[in-house]
Amino acid sequence: MKRSQLAAAVAVPLVMALAAGIGGGSRAQAEDLVAYQIVDGAIPKSLTGKPGDPAAGEATAVNRKLGNCLACHSLPIKNQPFPGDLGPDLASVGSSLSEGQLRLRLVDSKKINPDTAMPSFYKVEGLHRVAKAFEGKPILTAQQVEDVVAYLMTLKGN
Ligand code: HEC
Repeated sequence: MKRSQLAAAVAVPLVMALAAGIGGGSRAQAEDLVAYQIVDGAIPKSLTGKPGDPAAGEATAVNRKLGNCLACHSLPIKNQPFPGDLGPDLASVGSSLSEGQLRLRLVDSKKINPDTAMPSFYKVEGLHRVAKAFEGKPILTAQQVEDVVAYLMTLKGN
């Protein structure tokens, strides 16, 4: 086998494996997502390779067009506009869950609980009721996921 053929033979299954790992969806969309690995109910590695920014994460979490976490969760911030209670209070979630567990919860909460009402924030397949402009795009970018994870890690309760 020539060198170029060998490269192709290795590259194609790799791309397919990455796409499958992200939800078995259409490859063109899945390729835009950073590949990640789930280990024991967690995604141990940062999607961006760097730690996120907690302040940016808080802003993303409360932004109704981005995280919109307050629709279902209470967060320890001032002036919460009627937080929802469908999901648990997140005031001490940084003590109860690891960074990797929080990352998987955000990326694809259905991997933890297939019946959950919580959206998968870093996934492009199986999202319902998405506006056309958002089709094929995850709700949050890899950077935004990392920022929210960093913010949640600061929530240690009292
Ligand atoms: C549509 C409702 C909804 C939205 C929006 C939502 N969640 Fe959730 N979340 C839930 C529910 C319900 C659970 C409870 C567990 C389950 O259903 O699997 C949960 C569980 C969690 C957990 C695990 C908590 C624990 O103690 O085990 C974390 C962390 C979390 N959510 C973070 C977030 C963050 C951060 C956001 C915003 C980026 C968010 N959620 C947006 C519904 C939601």
